[in-house]
This record gives sequence, structure tokens and C-alpha cells, in this order.
Amino acid sequence: MRIHTKGVQAGLFISFEGIDGAGKSTHIQGLADAFRELGRAVVLTREPGGTPLAEKLRTLVLNDAMDPLCEALLMFAARRDHLRQVIEPALQRGEVVLCDRFTDATFAYQGYGRGFDLAVLRQLEQWVQGRDDGEGVRQPDLTLWFDLDPAIAAARLADARSPDRFEALPVEFFSRVAGGYHQRQQADPDRFERIEANQSIEAVWRSVQAALVARGWLGGRTNP
Ligand code: TYD
Repeated sequence: MRIHTKGVQAGLFISFEGIDGAGKSTHIQGLADAFRELGRAVVLTREPGGTPLAEKLRTLVLNDAMDPLCEALLMFAARRDHLRQVIEPALQRGEVVLCDRFTDATFAYQGYGRGFDLAVLRQLEQWVQGRDDGEGVRQPDLTLWFDLDPAIAAARLADARSPDRFEALPVEFFSRVAGGYHQRQQADPDRFERIEANQSIEAVWRSVQAALVARGWLGGRTNP
């Protein structure tokens, strides 16, 4: 059933967060399918990345050695291009934007993980996500935070493909990153939904679904 008419409904911006190995990918795809079944246009994208320029920056930042300021600037440069080229236009068209990571990842990884100055990150966030319509700073309407014990995530990643610069970091780094996500959630509890990621894929999917149903954005659906 198509319940909305294109152009009339508001856009919806949902980000997916969590430490590496938390298992968000399956559920991003599951939600894209669920929204498409409702007749919504869906943009499935990721950060860093999502545009030709930002994907080039992604390759650099995930592979080349650099200092934390350079890392933070490249993350926000990629985000700026992604917002202007992809995210804002899609939201204007009333589409659903599902984004694998957004600014909370920069606070969690560069800020809490690397120890980079949070005040500088807040300033960059203001500049990069400031909206042309004067409506303040663009943030997701909902952030699904897949919360998993860093030791369990490390065990899951141990079998995975060759690690990038972040995945190669020790479990202590990911403990700080997880703490960063917790801080971000505390600061903005209405935007965040914590998903217990130490469950079966089916149980995690039910939690994801419940978060969307509770907001009136989805009906019930059983499989990821
Ligand atoms: P990830 O999203 O996990 O993709 P994949 O599943 O392909 O590995 O990888 C992106 C990495 O970039 C991840 O380790 C987190 C890191 N990252 C930051 O450090 N800061 C950021 O602002 C973003 C968006 C990602």
C-alpha cells in the first residue's frame, strides 16, 4: 500500500552507529527494504563517503597515516560534500536517507577514541552541518546506536577481512569509542535509540523495527 504521495511527506534522516563489529549492515539493508515496501524512496549511503569526492577522502582516511586534526578535517570535508550533494537534496524531495555513520562517529572515534579536542569538533559540526534555511544544525531524526561490548566486537572482527586503520586498533580504543557513543546518547536521548547488539540477528532486527514502529514510521515486519 502506498500511503504517502511523493513530495508531500517530510524527509526522514536515520543514521546507524556503533563500534566496528557491532553488526549494523544487515539492518540498514533490512530497513531500506521495509521503507521501499511502504512506497518510500530510500537513499542508502555511508560516511565517510556517499559522493565521488567523499569516497576518495574515505580511501585516504581509512588507509593513509595522518594526525588526528587531519583525520577530523577530512571526515568533516567528506561530510560537507555528502550533505550538499546527497543528503539535503534527498530530504528536500521527501525521501528516506539511511546513513551508515554520521557525526556521532566523529565524536566517538576522533574525539573520545583519539582524544581530539571536542570543542573543535563542535565548532566543525556547526560549520559543516549549518543549514541554508537557518534551521540550525542538521542532525539525524533518529540515530540507531548498536551497542556491543568491545571485547565481543573484537572477537567478531578477528575472522573478518583485512582490517583498515581503525579496525586494526586495540580493544582499549574501542572501549573509549563506545564510551563516546554513550556520552552522545546521554546528551541527546530523544534522537538516540540504543540497540542491544549482543543478541541474534533476528532479535536485533526486532529491536530496530520496534524503534521505528514506536515513532510511527513503520508497521510490523518480521524478517531482516
Ligand atoms: P565502517 O563504517 O565500519 O565501514 P566498513 O563496514 O566498510 O568497515 O568504516 C568506517 C570507519 O571509519 C570506521 O572504523 C569508523 C571510522 N569513522 C571515523 O573514525 N570517524 C567518522 O566520522 C566516520 C564517519 C567513520
